[in-house]
This record gives sequence, structure tokens and C-alpha cells, in this order.
Amino acid sequence: MASSSFSRAVFQRIQSCILGIGSLVLAFAAVPALSGAPAAAQTSPANVWWKHAVVYEIYPRSFQDSNGDGVGDLNGITSRLSYIESMGIDTIWIAPMYPSPQIDFGYDISDYVSVDPQYGTLADMERLITEGKKHNVRVVLDMVLNHTSDKHQWFIDSASSRTSPKHDWYVWNDGIPIDSAGVNDYQKKYVQTNLEGKHVVPPNNWESLFGGSAWEWVPAVHQYYYHKFYKQQPDLNWSNPTVEKAAFDAMRFWLDRGVAGFRLDAIPTLFEDPQMRSEPVLAGTNAQGDPNLQEIYTQNLPEVHNVIRRMRVMVNGYAGDRVLIGETYLPNTAELNKWYGGEAHDELQLPMDFLVGFHGDHDKLNAANFRARIDEVQTQVYGSQPLFVFDNHDNVRAIDRYGDGTHNDLINKVLNTVLLTSKATALTYYGAELGMPTTTPTRKEDVKDPIGITGWPKEKGRDGERTPMQWTAGPQAGFSTNPKTWLPIPPSYKTNNVAVETKDPNSELNWFKQLAMLRRTNPALHDGKQTMLDASNPDVLSYARSTGSGPAVVVAMNFTAEPKTISLDLSGTGITGSTVKTLAADDASLKSVHSLKNITLPPYTSWVASVQ
Ligand code: BGC
Ligand code: MG
Repeated sequence: MASSSFSRAVFQRIQSCILGIGSLVLAFAAVPALSGAPAAAQTSPANVWWKHAVVYEIYPRSFQDSNGDGVGDLNGITSRLSYIESMGIDTIWIAPMYPSPQIDFGYDISDYVSVDPQYGTLADMERLITEGKKHNVRVVLDMVLNHTSDKHQWFIDSASSRTSPKHDWYVWNDGIPIDSAGVNDYQKKYVQTNLEGKHVVPPNNWESLFGGSAWEWVPAVHQYYYHKFYKQQPDLNWSNPTVEKAAFDAMRFWLDRGVAGFRLDAIPTLFEDPQMRSEPVLAGTNAQGDPNLQEIYTQNLPEVHNVIRRMRVMVNGYAGDRVLIGETYLPNTAELNKWYGGEAHDELQLPMDFLVGFHGDHDKLNAANFRARIDEVQTQVYGSQPLFVFDNHDNVRAIDRYGDGTHNDLINKVLNTVLLTSKATALTYYGAELGMPTTTPTRKEDVKDPIGITGWPKEKGRDGERTPMQWTAGPQAGFSTNPKTWLPIPPSYKTNNVAVETKDPNSELNWFKQLAMLRRTNPALHDGKQTMLDASNPDVLSYARSTGSGPAVVVAMNFTAEPKTISLDLSGTGITGSTVKTLAADDASLKSVHSLKNITLPPYTSWVASVQ
């Protein structure tokens, strides 16, 4: 795998504590006040909230429309807090709701300290935070630091003249003469004429992840600016300390208003090689028709870690254990470890581990792969807290990546079992609790995501995983009163919705709820060490969770379409006890299991039991 798998995994889709009784009390304790005076830097005790959180990503356009315009909004989210709470969710991450031209549906921010009118007002956001506290639901915001919108006043000023005080806030380059050594045909496609009338081309072969050169010419300044994403998303120049100050000020604005933390968008992309070296070219072209590159000069530059350490100090200045979550697509656990700050634990508390939930091209239920990845992050990051994630707004939903088309509902339960019963913070995405499928547009003219238009038909964009939430079998699935929703309601809404699944005790929704609640109330599941069992079994993933005192828990999942019989040997785990009591099983036959020997798991079933 290349040193960075961000583009491959996301956009090209190639593979792309608490002990004893005290835990019960604390797990249900009210959310502590989040606002208030800066406090001293915090360590991260075992009972810190984010170690036990179940985080729910909400794509605000698609969750709940409250004003009938066909687009979801903040008041819509507030109206659904009871549902969120009832599911065992204690934290929501809201994808960008700031003012934006919406080229990249909010990831192109034109004002960091306000709310886009189509999503509501600052007062609505404040109300969501306040109401969230009443429901024990914290609010994490998305913070896009690599780039702004080209309509942000910072960029407008920057692009107005070379002498603008903000010119250096973005990454500008004069270009190089077209006949310079090493210039390739790809660069030549972007030729321009500079102030002296000479033909110049971009300084290197860097590409936008969304297609084409990453360099865009601005005649007013006779320079190119760099954009890792759409050309309407110019990259900020993070080597300018004023940029860092402005970004931290924006974060403080929200921390002062009581947000629980941030999900840091595309955070490995903050810095680029100051020498402007071209990336190594790999074989073939991507879905946008551009040469494949190994992104060693535009991703994961070491400088980013200095910024993150300073950001952590800034965030630690606030009471309430605010958290930094990172969008960190990385090739391996050793790279992930760096984002925690390794042994120093002084960077992100929760960089996302995509290695467990995104196996690229080979996304399928492979017990050995899951076992190895889970074990690795629990033993190779100096005791930092793993964050597992299977779904987000950029990828085909896990149910479709891991599903076999026949047992998708059971497979969804397996995925949610791994997510909710591992010793890891859990991150899920609206609809995943229901088994909502990906509904990709079938005609180019229906596509809303720009990369699906430029990449059609190889890349059909991300609309499929952003369809409106399916609440009921009624009009617009209960998402909106307006028949013209921003994306169509998927046909699956009739049977696959909150109302129907709430009533069905065996539904995916009730499975999710049951496990999310067990994770709070059962001390071993809440905080116990995770130890793999039956570790050479290619078909069944099994593990134990144990705090060392009190009943342990065993979890087993059949990863195949055939029944499988297992016997679990606890010797060497320190767990005593051999009487088993089922806590949760998605097949009735497992409810009466009393022994760890000869347990037959029907196809794709999940089983959670207490050992005493
Ligand atoms: C977000 C994408 C967005 C990109 C650029 C990400 O990784 O998740 O949705 O298009 O960053 O901001
Ligand atoms: Mg609306």
C-alpha cells in the first residue's frame, strides 16, 4: 500500500474505567458542564467520557428537515435528540454546518464562526448544544483546517494582490518555465503566461484528489494556488503562524460555546513539501482519469504533528475533557500511533482507525484480518484508545461493502457487534443502525456530488451514502414534508425505517440499541481488556472482555454463511468461571447456551455472553 491511502480508500474506492459498581453509576451520570474557564492540562483517566463514547455522525443535509425546504437542518437534529439518546448514542458529530457555497456540501467553509442559513442560525446551534446536554448527548463539530472556500474573505483578500496582507495565507506559486527540466505532459496541460510574457506551468505534478492538477491560475496575481480538493477549496498555508492563530481562534469560538470537541477533516494534508518536489508516479490512472501518484509530498508531512501538539495544549485548556478526533486514513498501525503522539500521548486522543472497518478492495468478512487489526491497535499504540469506524459520508456503506447481498441484515449486526463490543470508542453513521443501504444514482444527470459528475461512470460520487434518513414508511420517509428532497428517498424506506425496526425485537436497530446499552451497564464490556480467543479459527471471530474482577464477557461471531461449531478455551486469559449466560444473541438457538464447549453458531450470527 502507498504511504497514504486517503484518496484510494475514500474517493477512488479502490481498496481503497471504571471498575466494579462505580462504573454503573458513572456511566449514567449527567454530562458535566462543558463550558467554563480554562483548566490545567488534563491527563486522560480511564473513565474519561470519550473512551466509552458511541459517536454518531450526522450529515446535516440528510438527517431531518424541520422547515420543509427538502434539506435537513439543525432544528431537525434537535427534534430527534430523544431518538439519538434512546439508541445509546452519547455524542454526535455534525458534518460542516458553517456558511458555505456548498460545492463540497459544507467542506468548503466561507465563515468558520457562523451557521449556514439553510441549516439554521447560531442560536439554533446553541439550542442544539443545550438540549443535547439534557439528553446526555455531546456535540462534536467538524473542523476543516486544510482549506477554506474560495469565497471565504481570507481567500478573496489573498487572491486580490501579491501585496495583500493575506496573500501568504494560502499556498501560491509563480509556476516554472515550461521548458524546465522534468516538466511532464501533465503539467504542460496547465500552461499559463506570466507577467513577463513567458509560458509557465505548475511547479510539479501534484493532483487534486477530486481530479485535475492541484494548481489553479489566478490572473490578478499571475500565480497558481494549490488545492488538494476542489479548486473552490484553496489550501491554507500552515507554515504561516498567522493562519494557525486564525484557525485556533475559530476553534475557540466553538469551544467557548460548549462543543465537546472536533473531528479534524483531512488533517494529514495540512502541509506540503516546501521544495515542491513532484510525487512519484505509479502505474495506471484513477477514476478521474489522472495518473496514479504516491502522495509522499502532500500528505503526512512531519510538520503537521507540531500543529497538533499545540492544538492539544489549546484544547486541554478547556474544562470537560474536550476531544480531538482525526480523519486519519493511514496505511498501518505504526503510522496511526504517530497521530496519538506515540508514547507521549500529546496529539489526538482519537485518530480514526480505518484499518479495522475499511479493508479496501478486499472489504469482506475475514476473521483473521479483523483479529489481527484489532489486536494490533490494542497492543501497539502505547495504551492509547482505539477509535473504530465502519461508515461515513465518503464511502459506500459498510453493509454493502461487507454484505453478501443475501445476509446483509445479519452481516450488519456482525459489524455493529465488533464496533460496540470491542475495547474501543465507537463511531457510527446515521442509518447504519438500521442497515440503510447505499443508494447510488443510476443516471449521471441525477448526481449532486461533483466528483460523481466528472468521474462518471467509474466514480459515481458520494450521493449514495448521503441519502435522507429513513424514519417512517410515510411520505419522504418522515425526513421532510417537501416531496422535493435534496437527494431522493431510497426505495428501501418502506421496510427499512426507524418506525418499523423499533417494533421488531429482532431488528438491526434493536440489536444496536441492546449492545450500546450493554456496553454502558456491563463492567466487562464497558472497560474490560479485550483478548482474542480461538485465535486460529478462520471463520469465527471470538474474544473475551474482562476487567480482572467480576464476570467476564465472551463475544463470538460467525463470519460465514455456514453453521460453525466452536469451543472457547479461557486458559491463559486469567478468566475463571465456566458457566455461561447469554446476554445478547441474534438467533434464538443461542439463548440457551450454558457451556463454552461445542457452541453452534448459525450463519452470520453474533453472540455475547457473560462467564461466571
Ligand atoms: C471529507 C470529505 C471532503 C474532503 C475535503 C474529507 O475527507 O470527509 O467529505 O470532501 O475532506 O474537505
Ligand atoms: Mg430544512
